[in-house]
Amino acid sequence: MAEKTKIAVLVSGGGTNLQALIDFEKSGRLQHGKLCLVISDNENAFALERAKKAQIKTSVILKRNFESKKAFEEAIIKTLEENEIELIILAGFMKILSEDFTKRYPERIINVHPSLIPSFCGEGFYGLKVHEAALGYGVKVTGATVHFVNEIPDGGRIILQKAVEIKEGDTPEILQKRVMEQAEWKILPAAAEKVCKEISENRQGALV
Ligand code: GAR
Repeated sequence: MAEKTKIAVLVSGGGTNLQALIDFEKSGRLQHGKLCLVISDNENAFALERAKKAQIKTSVILKRNFESKKAFEEAIIKTLEENEIELIILAGFMKILSEDFTKRYPERIINVHPSLIPSFCGEGFYGLKVHEAALGYGVKVTGATVHFVNEIPDGGRIILQKAVEIKEGDTPEILQKRVMEQAEWKILPAAAEKVCKEISENRQGALV
């Protein structure tokens, strides 16, 4: 079988999507990928504890330690290169990456977003704000999307989506939990495997 695709997961917070990836790998379903590195831009992110428990290498890169966004992103790129990372997964990573960064990794960065893109997405829509907006608008169905990352926030090609019902009396917190459980934790690992398989097979093809 082709060599596994080396994955880095970028996180900022709780890391439940990272946990879904870890559990997916542990159960043997991440057949074409390997979780090699977790990078956090927040030293207090619980995601770091999850990574350590799963014995995945971690790196904390704080924006405030750099004089510019460019220097911060260059530090991330250096860490990715040192670890020979082939696929970057944004799993609750709360910074928007610059065009310089995304152009470097065409179709090699994926992101999970907690709505059905193109609804409730783009700059300013992250975390609970997305669910507040969906409830505020009064939509009856929401969901999650995994997409490739390009220079347009939440604008890259869609890989997988899953719809989730909105129920009477939902709060943003209740809805966030349902969207995670019913959609994000399922489609993020599935999309990761799909993309890893493509990368592994293309690499294999290039060698013959
Ligand atoms: C998730 O709901 C993820 O989709 C969202 O933040 C949460 C992170 O949770 N991401 C965005 O809103 C990105 N635009 P987690 O740290 O428990 O995975």
